[in-house]
Amino acid sequence: MSEHVDTICVQGGYQPGNGESRTPPIIQATTFKYTSSEQMSRLFDLSESGYFYTRLQNPTNDTVAAKICEMEGGVAAMLTSSGQAANFFALFNICNEGDHIVASSAIYGGTFNLINVTMRKMGITCTFVNPDCSDEELEAAFQPNTKAVFGESISNPALIVLDFEKFAGAAHRHGVPLIVDNTFPTPINCRPFEYGVDIVTHATTKYMDGHGSCVGGAIVDSGNFDWMAHANKFPGMCTPDDSYHGVTYAKDFGKAAFITKATAQLMRDFGSTPAPINSWIMGMHLESLGVRMQRHCENALKVAQFLQSDPRISWVSFPGLPGDKYHALAEKYMPNGTCGVISFGVPGGREKVASFLDHLKMISIATHVADARSCTLYPAGTTHRQLTEQQLEEAGVGIDLVRLSCGIENADDIIADLKQALDTVFGE
Ligand SMILES: Cc1ncc(COP(=O)(O)O)c(C=O)c1O
Repeated sequence: MSEHVDTICVQGGYQPGNGESRTPPIIQATTFKYTSSEQMSRLFDLSESGYFYTRLQNPTNDTVAAKICEMEGGVAAMLTSSGQAANFFALFNICNEGDHIVASSAIYGGTFNLINVTMRKMGITCTFVNPDCSDEELEAAFQPNTKAVFGESISNPALIVLDFEKFAGAAHRHGVPLIVDNTFPTPINCRPFEYGVDIVTHATTKYMDGHGSCVGGAIVDSGNFDWMAHANKFPGMCTPDDSYHGVTYAKDFGKAAFITKATAQLMRDFGSTPAPINSWIMGMHLESLGVRMQRHCENALKVAQFLQSDPRISWVSFPGLPGDKYHALAEKYMPNGTCGVISFGVPGGREKVASFLDHLKMISIATHVADARSCTLYPAGTTHRQLTEQQLEEAGVGIDLVRLSCGIENADDIIADLKQALDTVFGE
């Protein structure tokens, strides 16, 4: 297969044989037939591979996971029913009650809540660090029971580019993996494994699907983290699993250990499986990801430049914009483009922000981002409304922040819509 990710997103994951369908088939089935109960027992023991029940694995889901795996340059991958499930599984696969996570404070509000509230109830604590913290501050966040470091390659909605090497260096010094949510740049623009990241997650709901049609998630493992070298920290990976007749994932499944454990244990017990039809649709949409990302990035740059030149806008944040605080990191880790999402400040308080959004005509107000159709959201009033003022500040989400997701329409139409709404609310 090609080294070019925009070729892999078209061709990867599925190679039909002679006379077989050019598009991958949809195996919209819950179960699979066998003629020998002995063989079924071996499947249950994981001593033989094969499909038996879609809650654990399904061929259509696996075909799309294989495409995403190739795009990220990983060794194993799985799909989940949502991005939330992907992040939860990636962390819970290696964190037990009494364990601890170090996470960037600039992450999606839903993920922040997952880690800060729900996982805390499960006895897993977290220290959040400012992604711009010094090496010393980052070091100080670790505890003897720390099991993972988590961040977003480009944070939603603050658009902070994670310093992969700083975070990977600290994680590895403490013998734990760095897990990064790579939803915003996608592997078209950024391949975190090349900079020391161990495990990547995605909300495929966003650019990968890109058409507002399928909620979904993915986890990809680089295969680079040596679990057995840190066996005392990761007993779930490195000691026998009684619920699977004593398999030891890190020994028995080599580089596929992390994904095998997440599938065998977490999918079995939590059942956050995507519907095969959703995976199939998302897989079709993946084929255009390369061209879509290019257009999203071009549009976002033009729109960011327009907003920057408009005196009615207080500030603009877009890592693709020269002069942006995170432009240098973006140039280093995602030189071909970042994403289509911009955040900017609308002055005058909550009511003015709301009025500005209400006057947009083509750009829709949607609890969504990273989609073919331009859309916008006011995070402090919606996705992040459960956060305190201090948490909002730590997450880089001010009360004047508007998030705009530039679609793949003509950039002039996006700009014209923003301009007419600004003219109406603030005067020309
Ligand atoms: C960066 C990021 N990660 C994860 C999620 C959660 O994904 P989902 O909505 O598919 O559960 C989102 C949703 O917006 C997101 O933006």
